[in-house]
Amino acid sequence: MNKPIEPCYYGDYLKLEQFLDAQKPVSGKYGEEAHDETLFIIVHQAYELWFKQILHELYSVIHLFKQESVSERDLSTVVHRLKRVVKIQHLINDQIDIIETMTPQDFLDFRNYLVPASGFQSIQFKVLEISLGLKSKQRIDFDKQSFYNRLTDEHRKFLEELEGQDSLFEVVEKWLERLPFLNFGKFNFWQQYQKATNEMLDQEKHIIENNTLLSEIEVRHQLKEHANTRLNFEALLDEKEYQKAIEAGRVRLSQKATLSALFISMYREEPLMNLPFQFITLLTEVDEALTLWRYKHMMMVQRMLGTKIGTGGSSGHDYLKRTTESNRIFTDFYNLATFLLPKQAMPELPESIKKALGFSY
Ligand code: HEM
Repeated sequence: MNKPIEPCYYGDYLKLEQFLDAQKPVSGKYGEEAHDETLFIIVHQAYELWFKQILHELYSVIHLFKQESVSERDLSTVVHRLKRVVKIQHLINDQIDIIETMTPQDFLDFRNYLVPASGFQSIQFKVLEISLGLKSKQRIDFDKQSFYNRLTDEHRKFLEELEGQDSLFEVVEKWLERLPFLNFGKFNFWQQYQKATNEMLDQEKHIIENNTLLSEIEVRHQLKEHANTRLNFEALLDEKEYQKAIEAGRVRLSQKATLSALFISMYREEPLMNLPFQFITLLTEVDEALTLWRYKHMMMVQRMLGTKIGTGGSSGHDYLKRTTESNRIFTDFYNLATFLLPKQAMPELPESIKKALGFSY
């Protein structure tokens, strides 16, 4: 028998009593309460709530990808949830504008009472970075130190354990490696792709060599750059060279996974490729929105602090600028653009493969 449904009361359901009693400015303890401290607390709390929702979505996505295989239905759920994540990210990026209504001088009314607390200690933010795929070894030195020196033993242990588990980056990499786009039996797609890229590169080289508008030095310079592009293409298809690129830190995603992602990007109009393509695009959007948040936060910090150090002891604006550049996760998906071919140069898929990738009514 179904349980009888109890009447629900708005405030009880949302735990508003506890929730609205959780804004306690510290400035009042030391003198007159600073007016803007309430805004500072509420903006941070709103961020933490949205982080919670983002993590809720991300965990569910990672969980779906941990299955032996990911069905079209699951992929559609994943795309839906990541779209939500990106929307939330856009919203919280805009929230920086609200904190910026506080002037740097008003911030000084309570800033010193907050030392040594800092955004470094936002565990949910660290969980977000780690769950997406950021590894300690990737972090810049000060970021590594803050991880070790500024967190409680309990938090540090929790985050270290989390880093040992599969992140979104890793589950996606495994999924891409499992996809059957590397070997199509008799039709050697990648040989055809190589042929097409060589033709395209030869043509580009010819254009540089015959460009009468360029000086001799400019031609030499452009040919050198062009030779590097050719090396990148060659490394993509050569297992040993690709491994060297991974070891040198130039790429992170495995060769197999990269080739699958490239195939998806090139043939995104084939019906079966469409959801995977949307998914890959969303990963770049998540990365982009997080990077934009870092950038906006960094600019806001410069506006609030100038060149002062942060309450957590970092160099402030300068430190945040460096993490904005280095704490990226899905750059390999951005770099796929390097290897795309114009539509007319793409290898024509045999009818049998086209049929397998499509459906029609
Ligand atoms: C007046 C407003 C703010 C100032 C002046 C400020 C300042 C800083 C500074 C200087 C750092 C570097 C660490 C340190 O030395 O303390 C930092 C880190 C951080 N802040 Fe803020 N912040 C502000 C608002 C916010 C808000 C609203 C959030 C939202 C959650 C936030 C989240 C973070 C996070 C997550 C970090 C760690 C970033 C990383 O390590 O890459 N901050 N903040």
